Amino acid sequence: MLIDSYGRAIDYLRISVTDRCNFHCVYCDPPTDRPARRARVPESTLKFDTFARIARVAATLGVRKIKITGGEPLLYQDIVPLVERLAITPGILDLSITTNGSRLEGLARPLFQAGLRRINLSIDSLRPERFFRMTHGGDLDATLRGFELARELGFQVKINTVALDGWNADELSDFVSFAETRGVEVRFIEFMPLCGPGWSPGLFVSATAMRDRIRRDHALAPIEADGVATRFATARGGRIGFITTMSDPFCDGCRRMRLTAWGTLRPCLFSAREVDLRPLLANGDDALREAFQRAAAEKPRRNAVLAGQEDPNRLDIRSVGG
Ligand code: GTP
Ligand code: 5AD
Ligand code: SF4
Repeated sequence: MLIDSYGRAIDYLRISVTDRCNFHCVYCDPPTDRPARRARVPESTLKFDTFARIARVAATLGVRKIKITGGEPLLYQDIVPLVERLAITPGILDLSITTNGSRLEGLARPLFQAGLRRINLSIDSLRPERFFRMTHGGDLDATLRGFELARELGFQVKINTVALDGWNADELSDFVSFAETRGVEVRFIEFMPLCGPGWSPGLFVSATAMRDRIRRDHALAPIEADGVATRFATARGGRIGFITTMSDPFCDGCRRMRLTAWGTLRPCLFSAREVDLRPLLANGDDALREAFQRAAAEKPRRNAVLAGQEDPNRLDIRSVGG
């Protein structure tokens, strides 16, 4: 088992399969005057059988849940064979992807055939022109076509929406109605200071403020939490959640470890500490297991950015996958 220094059992591995992304979201990687941010060279992205091997080793240490992230994970060339392998990894009970949906229409069917059943889809506006501006070029219709196809195929889909004042905070009730009519859960995420130029405290909306706004249009009754989301049911049978990283951190219950696309383990989203697996890949699985143990031992107790002990500019959520 992977137990960290504070007694938390780690059973959730988030694998970032590429640091590339085809969107430039306003809160993450907004276009600026500075030279375009370079993705790390493609050679630094692991091969799919290496990701699969590391996942297999993690499962022998008690990891039961795997999330594939990016960058945008559907840009990873071998995403389908990777899913195929992860879906049959002994011990893995929950496999899912968090995607911006731009490539979902083309990939939903092969991903379903490969064994994937759960998708979290990031949509920050339901208005095409605003969606285009928030993502710097994204096509809302394409994302929604992917979403509808995924539902038809039988995927369980959740929508992730980062609430931003002055951008989409006036749309929260629309998202709730959208979720109600389509029978999916929408989770509203507090903006986190993880992306250098994208961050601005003026954009932040707390979960309490989001809830107050939504309550003007929808009655909400608390239901049980799911992972990191506090949840509510709406009068029309919808389910919504709030991810309160900033206003009510959930570090005491954190069960996560991250694998970056370039082959390092990061024990915390808010810390640049990492354990490099690359020099160990030529060795047997025991060396990898030992590296997982080391990474667990280094997992910080809590969000070091909130405590003022970590510079968020070093973290690069865009590559590490939320
Ligand atoms: P489920 O598999 O549906 O439980 O997904 P999830 O909520 O674990 O993952 P998802 O990729 O949908 O991430 C949702 C949001 O959770 C992200 O946008 C982040 O805001 C936040 N988040 C993800 N990982 C972490 C983490 O390790 N720490 C903190 N503080 N927030 C995180
Ligand atoms: N704050 C909050 N959420 C973010 N995401 C990306 N950057 C941030 C940020 N700075 C979200 C994405 C996606 C999830 C994985 O993380 O919108 O839904
Ligand atoms: Fe876990 Fe770190 Fe996120 Fe806290 S900030 S929930 S310890 S990953």
